[in-house]
Amino acid sequence: MPKEKLFGPFKRKLNISNIQLIEEFYSDYDFVEFYNKALKEDSHKDLEIFRKLLSLDDTILEIGSGSGRVFNDLCNENYDIYGIEPSKEMNKYIVREYRHKIFNIRMQDIEILRDKQLFFSKIIIPATTISLFSHNDFEYFIEKVSLMVKPNGSIIFDFINPSYLRTANGKIHMLEYRESKYYFSNYIQYPYFILNVYLQRDNLKKLSYSVKHLYSLEFLQKICSKYGYNLNIISENDIYIMVEMRKYE
Ligand SMILES: C[S@@+](CC[C@H](N)C(=O)[O-])C[C@H]1O[C@@H](n2cnc3c(N)ncnc32)[C@H](O)[C@@H]1O
Repeated sequence: MPKEKLFGPFKRKLNISNIQLIEEFYSDYDFVEFYNKALKEDSHKDLEIFRKLLSLDDTILEIGSGSGRVFNDLCNENYDIYGIEPSKEMNKYIVREYRHKIFNIRMQDIEILRDKQLFFSKIIIPATTISLFSHNDFEYFIEKVSLMVKPNGSIIFDFINPSYLRTANGKIHMLEYRESKYYFSNYIQYPYFILNVYLQRDNLKKLSYSVKHLYSLEFLQKICSKYGYNLNIISENDIYIMVEMRKYE
């Protein structure tokens, strides 16, 4: 595990003899459990916002459908939604009946979907997933996916308010779940912020990290101007900013 991705007390855990170092945060059962629990406790009501913005006539694509927190609910409510998700561990949580609508690919490989002749009126990227993508990958994605976005269609996503990250930098939080204690913190290392998580359950000790990219309205405005979208802010609070990139007709 690269030491420069760990900070302060998390870096010191490397000295523990029986610690398990997990490189693929989203492929590890315990960290997926942590992630699901942390999202549930989060006060950001993104699913309610999506319900207001989406219609049953939309053809929707979710980028990084994960454990189906959004995907499963919207499928059950008869929305026509597809997903892309590279982690097979995450796919296990998708309701079996809808699993065929998840493509096991990364957003960087979005061109693969062009052969399927699918066109979307809405693309959603919930849960600040955009921060997993570098600015270059995001720009490449917008360029390629635009051919699959219907005129007047839109791409809707949230990202962490950069001013919040500056105040939360290095603060340690603890979450207790199913006999496990998870200690976690975000550290800014421009142009990234890096999540460190340490799990302790009886004799089990695990350490992982997830590198995330900082996004800002200024950067998104540049992408919109370049690829023919209008940028609208849908909601904004101290922690999250949700935006819509609407394609010109
Ligand atoms: C923050 S989770 C969001 C899951 C779900 N959308 C939700 O709202 O609960 C991010 C998801 O993106 C997936 N992911 C990671 N890298 C990806 C990539 N390159 N392309 C598409 N999805 C990716 C992860 O496996 C994970 O399931």
